[in-house]
Amino acid sequence: MPKKITILLSGTGSNMVALAQQVQAGKLNADIAYILSNNSKAEGLKKAEKLGLKTQTLSWKKENIIDLIKQLKRDQIDYIILAGFMRILPPYFIREFPYKIINIHPSLLPHYKGLNAIERSFESEDAYGGVSIHYVDEGMDTGPLIAQFKVPRNKEETLDEFKAHIHKCEHENYGKTLQQIFTGA
Ligand code: GRF
Repeated sequence: MPKKITILLSGTGSNMVALAQQVQAGKLNADIAYILSNNSKAEGLKKAEKLGLKTQTLSWKKENIIDLIKQLKRDQIDYIILAGFMRILPPYFIREFPYKIINIHPSLLPHYKGLNAIERSFESEDAYGGVSIHYVDEGMDTGPLIAQFKVPRNKEETLDEFKAHIHKCEHENYGKTLQQIFTGA
């Protein structure tokens, strides 16, 4: 049985697109119920509509979040997948879905938690940047790690080139990692 998922995004939505394409290609055994966003202008929503996915926007305030919890339970969503979702999930939300909320972060956590992780990693002397996929807990980018992928640094590359390598790594590995979770591999 495919896992029923929702993807939460706030911006570009390139990870959502990669996941949707992997579902369509039969590489990710999931049924994307709908794409959720706090941002009605998110580019990712337009991309989702073009892919034929259902979308829903909600302003991120307590009464709506409580309704969302009820909706996700009523719809029997198995996993809540964060892909560039720029709002904090409150503890009363996280407690309802233990080990069912998964996030991707563009650094080798615990390094560079929070915003502008790629820029901070780029400015460092680190030999590697990377990507982390983790369960979401009540902290900011602190939940239990599921997988990490290194991206080697090259002293010649520009920030834009480094960003492109990080995003490529995300797009290649988010779906693969989710597939392992969904199939218990
Ligand atoms: C990604 O770098 C992801 O790791 C971070 O936010 C970015 C979202 O990009 N959490 P996109 O919206 O999927 O293009």
